[in-house]
Formats: sequence, C-alpha cells, structure tokens
Amino acid sequence: METAHAAVTTTRLKDYLPPAYLVDSVTLDVDIHDGVTTVTSELALRRNPAAAVSDAMMFNGEGLTLRSLALDGKVLDENSYRYEDGELVLSGLPEKATLVSVVDIDPENNTALEGLYVSNGMYCTQCEAQGFRHITFFPDRPDVMSSFRTTVRADKKRYPLLLSNGNPVAQGEEGERHWVTWEDPFPKPCYLFALVAGDLACLEDVFVTCSGREVALRLYAEHRDLDKLDHAMASLKNAMRWDEHTYGCEYDLDIYMIVAVSHFNMGAMENKGLNIFNTACVLAHPATTTDAGFQRVESVVAHEYFHNWSGNRVTCRDWFQLSLKEGFTVFRDQMFSADMNSAAVKRVEDVDFLVNHQFPEDQGPMAHAVRPEEFEKIDNFYTLTIYEKGAEIVRMQYHLLGAEQFRKATDLYFARFDGQAVTCDDFVDCMQEVSGTDMGQFRRWYSQAGTPVLSVVDQVAPEGYRLTFRQHTPPTPGQAEKLPLVIPVRMALLDAQGEPVPLDEEGRREQVLIIDQQEQTFHFPVSESVTPSLLRGFSAPVVLEFDYRKDQLAALLSHDSDGYCRWSAAQRLYFAAMDRLVKGQSSPDLEAAALQPALEQVIDRAGEDFAQAALLLMLPSEVALGDRHSPLDPAAVHEAHQQLKQAIGRALQAHWLSLSENLLATELQMDGVAMGRRQLRNLALDYLAAGGHPEAARIAVELFELPLCMSEELGALRTLVHHGLSGAEQALAQFAQRWKDEALVMDQWFSVQASAPGESTIDVVAELLEHPAFDWKVPNRVRSVLGALAGSNPSAFNTPKGYQLFAQALGRVDALNPQIAARIANAAARLHRLEPGRQQLLRQQLQAVLETASANLREVLTRILS
Ligand code: ARG
Ligand code: ZN
Repeated sequence: METAHAAVTTTRLKDYLPPAYLVDSVTLDVDIHDGVTTVTSELALRRNPAAAVSDAMMFNGEGLTLRSLALDGKVLDENSYRYEDGELVLSGLPEKATLVSVVDIDPENNTALEGLYVSNGMYCTQCEAQGFRHITFFPDRPDVMSSFRTTVRADKKRYPLLLSNGNPVAQGEEGERHWVTWEDPFPKPCYLFALVAGDLACLEDVFVTCSGREVALRLYAEHRDLDKLDHAMASLKNAMRWDEHTYGCEYDLDIYMIVAVSHFNMGAMENKGLNIFNTACVLAHPATTTDAGFQRVESVVAHEYFHNWSGNRVTCRDWFQLSLKEGFTVFRDQMFSADMNSAAVKRVEDVDFLVNHQFPEDQGPMAHAVRPEEFEKIDNFYTLTIYEKGAEIVRMQYHLLGAEQFRKATDLYFARFDGQAVTCDDFVDCMQEVSGTDMGQFRRWYSQAGTPVLSVVDQVAPEGYRLTFRQHTPPTPGQAEKLPLVIPVRMALLDAQGEPVPLDEEGRREQVLIIDQQEQTFHFPVSESVTPSLLRGFSAPVVLEFDYRKDQLAALLSHDSDGYCRWSAAQRLYFAAMDRLVKGQSSPDLEAAALQPALEQVIDRAGEDFAQAALLLMLPSEVALGDRHSPLDPAAVHEAHQQLKQAIGRALQAHWLSLSENLLATELQMDGVAMGRRQLRNLALDYLAAGGHPEAARIAVELFELPLCMSEELGALRTLVHHGLSGAEQALAQFAQRWKDEALVMDQWFSVQASAPGESTIDVVAELLEHPAFDWKVPNRVRSVLGALAGSNPSAFNTPKGYQLFAQALGRVDALNPQIAARIANAAARLHRLEPGRQQLLRQQLQAVLETASANLREVLTRILS
C-alpha cells in the first residue's frame, strides 16, 4: 500500500528504453496460508538483443518481504544486489540466467486491491497496471512478455477452487491442502497475470469456435449469486460470435473463465483466459439489476473478451500507449452493443457520455492527450480521455477508411503484431498502408490534448449556399500551442420539410467534409433556405458552434433522420432556456411554453423508439449546465435547473400522466423495447412529480409496492426520494429491509439518497457514512455515496459542509485505497471555475488532505490546486 509522502517520480514517454533482459518464461508457486502467502518465482532471463548492451537489470518489487534470491543456483548475498525504493537491480548478469526469488506477501491486509488480495474470503488479483510487483520481483512493464506456469496451493476445504491463466496441467493433494498447476502457452506481460483461490459456484457452457474448436466457458461467483450469471453468459457467447464475424478474431485457449468479486477498483480486467470482474459488471437478474445494469454487463463482458485480441495477443509497448488497447476495445464494444441493440440509441448514449464527462476532463486541470507524454501514477490515467476519446479516434479512422478497408487494416494489425507489444503509431501505420492515405496530420489526435471547437457560419448568396468552418483548440496544461486537426464533418442540408436536399451535381444528399485547416469554406449549389445538419453521427469529437435559430432547432429535433443531430438540437434548446434562467433573463413558464410544441412532437412519435424519446426528453444534468457558466455559482445553476424541470412538468402534465399510466407493463420482458418503455415511463413519472402533480406520489408508491423488476422499483424509489414525496421515508426503509443482503442493490439505496438534489442532502450523506452497512473498504459502496455526492449532486457538494465532509472522507479512503481516493478526487477538478468564495473554501479543504496524501491522490490534488 502507498504510504504518505511516497517519492514522486515522473515517467516520460521520451525516456522510453527497451528492457536490458527479457523473461522468456516464469514459473510461479503461490503458497497461500492464513496470514502469509509465500511466492516462489523462477525467471528465465535472456539478454534483450534490441537493448543497448548492459549487464544490469531492474526488477520491480513493492511490499515484498524478501526471503531469498538465487542466480543460476547460487544464493545471492546482500552485497550482490541493490534493493531500494521498489527497485531490485542485479549487475554482472550473463547472456542467459535463471533468477529464483522467494518472498512473503500479506494479501489479507491489502486494502489497496492491487496485487493479491482477499475479497469476501476469496483470494484474487488485480495486476494492471503495476500490481504484479506486489506479488513478486519482476520487470513490471508490458513490453516483457513471458509464458507462465503457475502453481497455486491452499487449504482444500476453504479454497476448493484454484485458478490461474491458461489450462490446468497438473494437480495434487497434501493432507488438508491441495494444489493445481496452470500453464498459459501464450506469452503475456505480467499485467495480464491472474490467480483466484476460493469456494465459488460455477455456471458452465460451451462455445464452438468458427474453426470448430470447443471452448469451455465458466463463470464463477459466490454461491448465492449463481442465479445472476445467465445474462453474462449469453453476452459472452454473443461477443465471441460477433468478434469472429466482424474482425475474424477467434478465441485461442480451451477455457474462458470469468470470476465475480465484490471488492474491485475498476469495472473488470481482461487477464488471459481468466477475467476478473467487479460483481457490478457481471451479475444481472431482473429483480436486482436495472436495465442500465443489464446493458453495462453486456458491454463490459464483451469489452474484456475483445481484449483477448486487442490487448492480449497484441499489447502495449509502454503505458503511454494505453489507448492502443483501450480506445480500440471501447470502439469494438460500442459497435457490438450497437449491433445487439438499437444502434441509434447506443450512439447517442455514447456521445452523451463523452460530451458530458470527457469534454469536461479536457477543460480541467487533468486534461491530457490520448497518448500522454508523462505521468506520476499510471493508475490516474485510466481516464475517459484514454478510453472514450480514444474510441472516437478509432471510430474516425473506421469512417475515413470505410468498413471494408478498416477490416483489412485491422487484419494487417493483428497479423503483423501478434505476440508483440506495440504503439499507437503502429496501429495508424496499418490504416495508412491499407488505405494509401497519408495519416500524418491525423496522428495529432493522439498527441494533442483538449477538445477542438469548430465554429461554423453560413451564408446564403445568389450563387449558392456557403459554410465556413474555423477550428480552434483551447490551450491545456503544459500544451499552449495547438495545431489544426483532421476533422471529418458528416453533413446534410435540410429543406423546410426536413428533407435533405442535393449537395452536388451527382445529387448526393449527405457528404463528409474534411476540415484540416484553421479555416475552410465549402460551396453548395443550393438556393432555397436550408437548415444545416452537421456532424451527423457525431463524426468527430469536437464542440460544434453554429448560431441556430430556434425554429431550425425545432425542425432538426422533429425531422432530422440522424439520431445524434436530433438529440443535439434538443440539448441546444434546453441549454439555451436554462442559460437564460441562470442569468435571470426569462421565466420558467415562458421557456417551458416555448419548448412545448417540440416536446409534444417527440412524445407523439415516442412509439417509434421509446428509448430515443426518453433521451430527447431528458434535461441535461445540473453538472453539464454548470460547466457552461463561469465563474460558477452552483446554487443559481441548481435553481434554474429545478425551475425548468418543474415548469416542463407542469406544462406537459397531461402527457406525463398518461405516459406514466399507459406505458405500464403487465408482465416482465427484458428486450430493448420493454427497457425503452420503462426508461420513458420513469422519466415521465419524474416530470410528473417535478410538476407537483397530486397523482405522482400515488403512482410511484403503487409501482414501488409491486414492481416487475429493479428498473421499476428503483425508478419509483428515486422519484419518491428526489422529490420528497409522501411515502419516501417508508419506501427507503422497506427497500433496505427487502435488499439488505444484496450488496449491489444496497449500493443503489445509498446512491439514490446521496444524489437527491438540494443542500440538505449533505446531512443525509453524513448519516449514510455512519450507517452500519457503509464500508470504507468496498469501492462500490464508497463510490455509491462519495461518487454520487461529488459527481452528480452539485447543490449538496458545493457547500461548506459538503467540502469539509468530502475532504475528510477522501483522506480516510486514501489511507485504505489510494487508487479510489484519487479517482474520487477528480470530482473537485472544477475548483478553478467556482466563484471566489467557494473556490477558497474548497481549496483550503483539499490543501489539508494533501499533507497526508498518497502518491496517487497527490498527483490529482496537486494538478487541481495548481
Ligand atoms: N484493462 C481494464 C479494462 O478493461 C482496466 C484495468 C484498470 N486498472 C487500473 N489499475 N486502473 O479496461
Ligand atoms: Zn479495457
């Protein structure tokens, strides 16, 4: 575990050097006993022909109690090596050598959850990015790829199941104890190592690959959760089939395992043949999991599976290339989910997430390039920029090349680099080679941080219609100068009926404009008055500025065939209305009345796609609204947001009432249409309550009493609690009683309360932190309260009490789990935008935490406070 004032070291991309020695094979023996686990490792070392000649080699090791070290059978005494600050250096090594080390580790007290640790009595590992060094001495870097042979030993009764990567090749018993040896034939970096020892239930199935090989699929969870694995299994099989079909990627081992664990820092981990998942990303049952939860399981299961090729067979040379595997794999999982569900809705959801979470990251102190230049703790760079913006960059390449050429390029990438650790440039090289286009300027997307702003003006002239584009990327920390990027803009021009008009002589009605200079103008032979439909499908991750008239936005919202452009038009209308309210330039009822016709059109067409209607009718979040106002007064923003929601609730109350009542299902269905209905119905109920309708409480209570599934139950509970309706207290008590033994459901119980808008929630949060079911050691629980407060409840968070509670809690989490503390601390990144009074208060609080902060937390806080 990190301790206070750990040494700060900055790692830089430009300093990359290949390792002096390679590790061809690793033989591990992990001997698990109560109180101590002994790890014996035998490393077959070979001088790296690609490295500068050197006979010194560095091995990482953190928190290891060294028992013995032997080189080629000779025990090394303390004078023959140097071990300090987590680095073991051996000099005078021959061309080839065998290093055997024996160390003791303490998984029972590992609350940081990296390396080997215990979760609900089960031993498990998390090694990405640098967890393996907490297990044994090793060159803990992704460009060292080795074949692993791992023996796990433990008590037979308590740990009947002993797992590691690959295939089991031997097993045996010794009295009360037993052991299993696993062999993974595919060389891999140590961050993909995994081990599990526990007593778990298993759901088993078989997948026959495209070449006819049988793969055993085994999903493991605690016995009580065995009934929650079916959805993950179905998703896994769909993902395996999809990847064969879409990318020609076939699974390579005979077994594929997933283990669900309750204590997990992230969503899931793609360890070779043995994925380890946060329970929240693999367990699903209609009674306990929301529809959003079902969709998350589908996409995370697929994501980790897809890593088998994009990440494991072809991995990253160094951690600056993280987006090589993450951006690409997110793109792959997005396309998979689009194929499994409604593609249009999925695209809007992904864009919504990007613009409301990654764009703010780009505007704050943590802004960094998709391929960063430097970091202190790599854990802090598992960011939305690496993942989501990285995916957008791959998506642009997909569209620039077209599906067919893109597939040729990925075929080339997988074939050429199989078994290697490579770079983002290697990936783009394949795109360039196959397409024959120069991708030189495009590569700036990887190195340049920040969100480009694309300002567009139009001009109607006698000779036709003109669009002029200007691009500009605001400065980000450490990167003042920005260069023009390649920005593909898919567009159409809509006539008064919302129909796209011909854009050229050939009569094409849609076009992709490539903006690659600071300013460019395009001409279209169009004489009628048109509404530009720009950035269709969100063809590039940019902020598009165009001074749309209200009637144009209403036209886009009701007629555009492009789902993203409809949603974006709705967002513009909502933001403009709320901006006027923040500035006191208008009244809520006037704004709601102006929006009403457009919203009614959406409601009238809701039957075409309920989920899409829900996305179009949902107001942007309070946080998103706040990000448009500087200096930020969160109370004024809160007020405006509430006012518009209430006014829309009143203005369309007849619609909300009938949607609330008529969309009610009589039997449970889990298909996309049924999920969309529930989403729209929950939203309607929420508006009904916001508008103060007397029926809202009754409908919510009835739904809460007899729900068909968790989406209904939680939707009802949220409406009751967030609007303080009568029956809320009772429902909370009942819910806790019903679900006290279901950790993931209780996470929702905590987060519903912590996210209730309004200043007084901060007292509720203080109580929740004292609740017997609150556990500082469980990341999901910590996130459900502190993440909900700081990330989605600005009116409670941005108060003197809020800052104080947040800072104290941060310190407490940090002492147990630095990665989680640093992640939650990011919620304070809006500090510099706050009005001076609050800014001062928050600054003081964060400064106090900084004094005892771990290296992880310190990196984030230092950036925020600078
Ligand atoms: N590679 C994992 C994924 O699929 C995430 C691992 C994150 N680990 C960490 N220490 N941040 O996205
Ligand atoms: Zn990933």
